[in-house]
Amino acid sequence: MYDVFFWFKESKIVIPGVKGRHLFMHVSDIHLHVWDELCSEEEKMSAINRENDWIRGKENFAASSGEPFGDAQKIRSTEAFEKILFLAKELNPEALLISGDTLNYMHPAGERYLKRKLAEYKNNTGRFICVPGNHDNKDLDGIWTTKLSVHEFDGFRIAAVNDTTNTVDDQTLSELESVCNEGVPIIILCHIPLLTEYCKEELIDAGRYFFVDPESADETGKKFVSLAENNSSIKAVVCGHLHKYIYCSLTPEKPQIIGSQGMAGAVDLITVCGD
Ligand SMILES: [Fe+2]
Repeated sequence: MYDVFFWFKESKIVIPGVKGRHLFMHVSDIHLHVWDELCSEEEKMSAINRENDWIRGKENFAASSGEPFGDAQKIRSTEAFEKILFLAKELNPEALLISGDTLNYMHPAGERYLKRKLAEYKNNTGRFICVPGNHDNKDLDGIWTTKLSVHEFDGFRIAAVNDTTNTVDDQTLSELESVCNEGVPIIILCHIPLLTEYCKEELIDAGRYFFVDPESADETGKKFVSLAENNSSIKAVVCGHLHKYIYCSLTPEKPQIIGSQGMAGAVDLITVCGD
């Protein structure tokens, strides 16, 4: 029995030819607020006040999407993160996937904390892949990059893409196109969901802030959505940002798994397999 803080969604990404079953644990939007002994009083009070705002904020998101929320979820973001790392240790996924807004804002105490915690995780438990979110869209050395990064698994890759400005940069797009041309199946991990005709109905009510919209995005953003939709190497998208769980599809064959708020206990267990 797992900690009552958590609630789970399970899904499958089928990639023909992949051997065996590959478990990934996905969380998003943890919105960490951290203060420590190195903080000034001002930094500490800012983190405490913002944290208190988000205790109400995450409850409001949960209420509006009808997701679980009770006393078990009214905990500090660092406590939530430590529970998430403990769960990952128990479940031992092939990688822990974190799709952005891990920090509520770039702040030195948060950056120190995250580097220390994820270094411990890497040393003691295993792999993690993080992308930045719109709240934390600057490079964090050794944790995430705003550039494309590609991670190898047995028979497929996970491409970590920075789409935090509701588009991608030219370099990311051209590198992603090159990687796609190599023909190895790819799962995209990004922060902001992608809107296609096929998933419009599920996403449109959230509003344009919450997806990469090929109608309003710049040229690079349009090409990014089109690549994800049409390139046969890209098999699925895993993302967050909505603070609400949605399982939808870019096309009938390409699932898009939108994780809810990790700071309120949402966890996706994603199995990648060949059939
Ligand atoms: Fe968020």
